[in-house]
Amino acid sequence: MRVVTAEVSDVARYLQTMGTVTLEDKADEFRSIMTYLSRYRRIDGMARLLEVGTGIGWFPVLCEKNGILCKGIEISRQLVDYGKEVGRRHGIDPDIELGNIEETDIGENRYDVVVALSVFEHVEDWRKGIGRIFRALKPDGVFYFTSTNKFSLVSGEYNFPLYGWLPDRWRYALRTRRQGEDIMNLGIDFNQFRFPQLRRFFRKTGFRVIHDAVDMLATDGLAHPAPWKKLVLAVLKGVPPLKQLYLTFRTTTGFICIK
Ligand SMILES: C[S@@+](CC[C@H](N)C(=O)[O-])C[C@H]1O[C@@H](n2cnc3c(N)ncnc32)[C@H](O)[C@@H]1O
Repeated sequence: MRVVTAEVSDVARYLQTMGTVTLEDKADEFRSIMTYLSRYRRIDGMARLLEVGTGIGWFPVLCEKNGILCKGIEISRQLVDYGKEVGRRHGIDPDIELGNIEETDIGENRYDVVVALSVFEHVEDWRKGIGRIFRALKPDGVFYFTSTNKFSLVSGEYNFPLYGWLPDRWRYALRTRRQGEDIMNLGIDFNQFRFPQLRRFFRKTGFRVIHDAVDMLATDGLAHPAPWKKLVLAVLKGVPPLKQLYLTFRTTTGFICIK
């Protein structure tokens, strides 16, 4: 894939829905990510963060607003400009650079935290991108990853029954027929991931701690700790086949990995 400097139809579609989202709308998600991260790494004015695939720019802008240094890299020129504009509206000049995580040099031993939220499904050579992130993290650095989950019953990528279950070529044909050829330049989900596949790859890459979406949840750290939720979580953590079943059909994949 290459950086995209032209306007493409999927960015226009993306901005039609995401363009109405405000920083306030994202405040809870931001707090929740920071809560997870701070279980593994102190997040203060000294920490250096990188977000890959910044979209409308809410994550780096909220970091700056909270005194946290966060750089962003984004493959679409249009979205780099959009993210900077969101920052300017809030009196912030976010450090978002045009780049492709497959190709752009993001350095070595540079970041305490790298965040990639709903990005790697779009990264054609995802293994190369994750390799770059591993090298860019400092020892004990934290990688926060969310993406597609192949066998989810509903898809955040495209509204079609069992979309993620379809073979790649069928998904590409469906999307190009309905959304035009340029969906393959930006917007297509090259990857429908599975938890075991990602876990194996993170281990092979060299991450020494790999926590999946269930491991990440602490029974005493639930945002809305109803007794039934604590019970369900305890069962998932205590009965491995049930945990695997839950992870297979969950809407998204999610991991925190430590270098
Ligand atoms: C679904 S959006 C998610 C945006 C943001 N992370 C969020 O959660 O709101 C995916 C973003 O990743 C960007 N992206 C896709 N492939 C990329 C790549 N290879 N390198 C950098 N950014 C990429 C897209 O342009 C888009 O902004």
